[in-house]
Amino acid sequence: MRNIVLIGFMGCGKSTIGQILSGKCELPLWDTDQMIEQRAECTILELFATQGEEAFRTMETALLQGLCNEQATGIFSTGGGMPLRKENAKLLKQLGHVVWLRMTEDTAYRRLKQDKTRPILQCEDPRGKIRQLLQDRACHYVEAADIIVDVDAKQEEEIADEILRMIQEEHKL
Ligand code: S3P
Repeated sequence: MRNIVLIGFMGCGKSTIGQILSGKCELPLWDTDQMIEQRAECTILELFATQGEEAFRTMETALLQGLCNEQATGIFSTGGGMPLRKENAKLLKQLGHVVWLRMTEDTAYRRLKQDKTRPILQCEDPRGKIRQLLQDRACHYVEAADIIVDVDAKQEEEIADEILRMIQEEHKL
């Protein structure tokens, strides 16, 4: 199975690395945030404001279930909260090799401090929020992941090559 599923915190590079992998592997890219925005015909920011986070999480699960049912093939870039629901973690594994793009709090804050598109970070203390979420989510990311790649201080191209190398190594075992 050649599918690669990218998980990890907001700003870790899932979409960009997904695009690079899609080019290298000549496989389609599926971006769950984009797909939800297209289906809902609004931005995630608007979705959270009008329907709330739980409704968004339910859409994520439904989308993931649909991709598994269709046996979709390709590279999957997922929203940062996708592995939080236990059922999603299982579905992610069913879909392909799950790669956690791990990032430190400093990197996350540097990349996200100006961000206006992530509803969860539009708060008084984004740094504190990032720290808390990273702590709370680490166990979910570990549980969902087959492979962990640290992304701090690396170029996206380099990370994509590292992922492909690690998947190849995994197959040799
Ligand atoms: C979220 C991450 C976002 C998006 C939504 C919620 C999260 O995706 O799904 O804003 O809970 O971490 P990215 O990780 O692509 O920013």
